[in-house]
Amino acid sequence: MPKLGVNIDHVATVRQARGTIEPDPIWAASICELAGCNSIVVHLREDRRHIQDRDVEILRKTVRTRLNLEMSINKGIIEVAKRVRPDQATLVPEKRQELTTEGGLDVKKNLNQVKKVVRDLTKKGISVSLFIDPDRSQIEATRKTGAKIIELHTGNYAEAKKEKEIRQELDRLKEAVNFGLRLGLIVNAGHGLTYQNVVPVARIPGVEELNIGHSIISKAVLVGLDKAVSQMRALID
Ligand code: PXP
Repeated sequence: MPKLGVNIDHVATVRQARGTIEPDPIWAASICELAGCNSIVVHLREDRRHIQDRDVEILRKTVRTRLNLEMSINKGIIEVAKRVRPDQATLVPEKRQELTTEGGLDVKKNLNQVKKVVRDLTKKGISVSLFIDPDRSQIEATRKTGAKIIELHTGNYAEAKKEKEIRQELDRLKEAVNFGLRLGLIVNAGHGLTYQNVVPVARIPGVEELNIGHSIISKAVLVGLDKAVSQMRALID
């Protein structure tokens, strides 16, 4: 049964929309842990659009499960990671204009640079995962970097509309999981997973952990709204 990592970036997105102190992702992380998640995931983006340095620093002290920091290979971000020392760092590609991470890290193309970052972070006692497309050559390149974990990008699967396309993407994921396991890597998966599409991915044997964010936070806004309005109504009354 795969573990569940909850990405709480979008709790911070709501906070940053007003530049206020609520909702605090630190509180959200505790609720996720109390509800049974296996790790807390945050992406410290170069533009700091949601998660802030302060969040990562406090989460390092409060998270009781595992703190997984998603990050680009930008120099400044690497410095933060080396200082804060999350349990795990997941290296992702990052573009300023994108709404969310698009595509996996091109490990093949940036082999030497990625290898150096993996070495630096590993020396600090941080487990390193590479977020890559479900592609054999990227998995092989990952092994050459010394990273022991991959996270397979499930975005194409999540975006597939036609039955045939969905089946093909799922087969690609299964093949990539098997290939990663044969090379001795720990295999995680994530991106774009929802309440509607998660089950077939969760059924793939050998997947260690699924990382899910947007869909869980979206659901929380809706399932919590009824209670939130009732509490405000009661106060006004
Ligand atoms: N895994 C990685 C590497 C990601 O970059 C993201 C998005 O921050 C996720 C998982 C979670 O994706 P989603 O928010 O679509 O569930």
